Amino acid sequence: MGLDIPAHVPPDRVVDVDLYRMPGSEQDLHAPWKALQDTAAGGVVWTPHNGGHWIVTGGSDIARIYADHENFSSNITIVPREFGEQFPLRPTTVDPPGHRRFRQRINAALTPAVVRTVEPTIRRVIIESVERIRPAGCCEFISECAVTLPIAVFMHLADLPLESAAVLPGYSEDPNSEGPHAGVPVMERFAAFLRPWVAERRAHPGDDLISCLLTHTTGDASLTDDEAVDVGVALLTGGLDTVVSSLGFMMAFLARNPDHRRRLVADPSLIRAAVAEMLRRFPIMTKGRLVRRDQVMDSVCMKAGDMVILPPLHGLDEREFHDPLTVDFHRPVAPHSTFGNGVHRCPGAHLSQIETEIVLREWIARIPEFEIDPVRPPTMRSGILGAMLQVGLRWDPHTTIVVPVA
Ligand code: HEM
Repeated sequence: MGLDIPAHVPPDRVVDVDLYRMPGSEQDLHAPWKALQDTAAGGVVWTPHNGGHWIVTGGSDIARIYADHENFSSNITIVPREFGEQFPLRPTTVDPPGHRRFRQRINAALTPAVVRTVEPTIRRVIIESVERIRPAGCCEFISECAVTLPIAVFMHLADLPLESAAVLPGYSEDPNSEGPHAGVPVMERFAAFLRPWVAERRAHPGDDLISCLLTHTTGDASLTDDEAVDVGVALLTGGLDTVVSSLGFMMAFLARNPDHRRRLVADPSLIRAAVAEMLRRFPIMTKGRLVRRDQVMDSVCMKAGDMVILPPLHGLDEREFHDPLTVDFHRPVAPHSTFGNGVHRCPGAHLSQIETEIVLREWIARIPEFEIDPVRPPTMRSGILGAMLQVGLRWDPHTTIVVPVA
């Protein structure tokens, strides 16, 4: 590794882990993380990669740090820290008490009642996708099905024309890619898209997500236009790649596990529990925190100013979950950190569960038998967001089912 190790880091805690290049993660995102959890007995290790940072691998510690904003700040949530410092985003990188004002608006904009209004859109979009590909007998699920869904959901919630979203960055787009937007940071492209709409809704408020952010008056002071753009970007970007990747993991699992899939086909009422269980088994986020005060954890001292990352491992910890690598649709519900924990816990958790549930329901009703297409096996990429990049699926078109339009 050959990089500087700070004096307060015990040499026996140093590991060679680069979260952006986990060996073997292309085939199994979680395997190298799980191996680290299994070998880091106490749970806290340090890597010199990405500016040097701690890695906390124990499930309960991950949950605790997510929730402990007094000692672990969200001011920087991405390593290397210089990179994280370039992306202040409200509410993601704001600690309490400032965070509350933003969250009040987000919570008001994403109530269960609001989520119910988007269910017909989710259903329509996935049915259109499935009907388009069904006769072909194969598809690449991410690009041909998954990516269209969350953008349609946001545009519905914000009451914006779907066509206008064509300018937005694509799924898991490489920020260094060539083309008309080369060099323009991805977040700035989302902000540039939303800015005129925020101005428009300020002038003509309606009954939609952006108007709700602007006009919500309960609680602390109202948002400025710039703040509303930021929060809009957080809501838009927060719900895109996360949902696509999670759906990819679920479909890859169901394609490889016919017994599980057939159980859902036989009893669709199991789908809700199946979604919850697969979200536990396939967490995707690796967020960071900035240590605020010196901390002793697992007998090591984390110094104020150190960075710590929280890998996708909570749900995979044997100390919290029996046989955690096994997907068990009847597993008792228990907390895990797939959606984070504490004040920053994902406000889109309910929406994502509904989205994935409807996708699985409509898919298996029409294509109950499918498997991995060996020509395009699941391919993943480790990073802040563990991305499922490709899931080739195939099926015999004769085994598909024509579902009458309701
Ligand atoms: C399966 C899908 C999703 C996963 C796995 C996921 C995961 C997460 C996680 C782990 C956090 C906490 C980050 C932290 O504490 O630093 C978070 C926060 C957030 N998520 Fe999600 N998310 C998903 C879907 C969504 C959706 C659909 C939306 C929007 C509708 C959304 C919007 C947000 C926002 C705005 C935050 C920041 C909240 C705050 O800082 O108070 N997410 N998400």
